Amino acid sequence: MIQIESVTKRYPDGTTAVDNLSLDIPDGSITVLVGPSGCGKTTTLRMVNRMVEPTSGRILLDGSDITEQPVNALRRSMGYVIQNAGLFQHRTIVDNIATVPRMLGWDRRKARERARELMGRVGLDESLARRYPYQLSGGQQQRVGVARALAADPPVLLMDEPFSAVDPIVRKSLQAELLRIQQELGKTIVFVTHDIDEAIKIGDMIAVMRTGGRLAQFAPPDELLSSPADAFVEDFLGTDRGIRRLSFFTSDGLQLTAEPVVAVDADAEQVARATAAGSPYLLLTDAEGKPLGWVAPQDAAGGADKVAVGRLLPYGRPFAAGRESLRDALDCAVLSPTGWAVAVDGEGKVAGVVSQETIGAAIRSAHAEHRDGGGAGRASITKAGAAT
Ligand SMILES: Nc1ncnc2c1ncn2[C@@H]1O[C@H](COP(=O)(O)OP(=O)(O)OP(=O)(O)O)[C@@H](O)[C@H]1O
Ligand SMILES: [Mg+2]
Repeated sequence: MIQIESVTKRYPDGTTAVDNLSLDIPDGSITVLVGPSGCGKTTTLRMVNRMVEPTSGRILLDGSDITEQPVNALRRSMGYVIQNAGLFQHRTIVDNIATVPRMLGWDRRKARERARELMGRVGLDESLARRYPYQLSGGQQQRVGVARALAADPPVLLMDEPFSAVDPIVRKSLQAELLRIQQELGKTIVFVTHDIDEAIKIGDMIAVMRTGGRLAQFAPPDELLSSPADAFVEDFLGTDRGIRRLSFFTSDGLQLTAEPVVAVDADAEQVARATAAGSPYLLLTDAEGKPLGWVAPQDAAGGADKVAVGRLLPYGRPFAAGRESLRDALDCAVLSPTGWAVAVDGEGKVAGVVSQETIGAAIRSAHAEHRDGGGAGRASITKAGAAT
């Protein structure tokens, strides 16, 4: 664990960059420092690897003061990734990644082997190994930066706005990649961003900082969204707080119904039975059970195979039952012309359908459970949901 204890940093010109900051950064998870420009995020991160020394206070790593070990040993235990990757322009990709292992005295072959293995891990094609950084896209360079930081397998990874210079789509895939790598490797990651959405997506814990280097709130993302500590945090979180929080509730317990679902070869009798269930629309599926579209019961009365293609309403985007969040389910229902969301299994086959009303009830009970249940309620909160 990294413990930041009452740390203040005042630069020689009198700027207080960090003001009496205390944070316990848990092992094996992602802690995000977020806040407006100039609030002291980079300064805080650089104090952890001693590129900046605190004016007062101290930082402990696994219980001992970080000033008590040689600074080189400390930095070797902490990978560091910055914006624009900060690669060595005159070295090939494979040699960039092999930098730290080489410094540690590994022979060239072993270091390059390790580098190639890491390229795979961060989603880089091996064919890029002999290229130079300028021959890579921004997103690829960021991946190299992450691979380089991981090369000596340090327990701690410090990341300062690593994804802020790439476009939103590449950024999303880099975030997903980081979550995947973290799941595999279980590093202790301190991640700096000024983007609250990125913080919520990847953080297990989020420290919201405010100008003057003061801590506004330190909490898991769902708690931040449900109970911002003050007006500053609330304002920083922006609108849609309630909707965004639904990302943390799984669609596990959502009551699906299969009664209005009919296959394309259903005869008039089967359609009549489905119609009797009372749903205002029927969901037509193909022979494999994959969704085709919604149809009004009267348009299918003669049998599902008689339905004119023109009468089908689009089913919108289906959600993955259980795997996606209540936010995803609600989004599907809102997008659906019938107000019903289509749930599919891992193979894309219809698992059932669910109305906006039922989703609304599930949201209310998830909130109630979270409010009353304390520890038990938290069990229904998923990080995976937020990652989608
Ligand atoms: N070497 C320095 N000398 C004097 N002041 C500095 C120095 N480095 C940073 N500062 C100031 O300290 C404050 C915090 O800077 P810091 O870089 O930690 O902020 P940040 O939260 O990382 O901002 P950004 O989101 O823009 O990267 C700012 O007011 C900055 O101008
Ligand atoms: Mg910064």
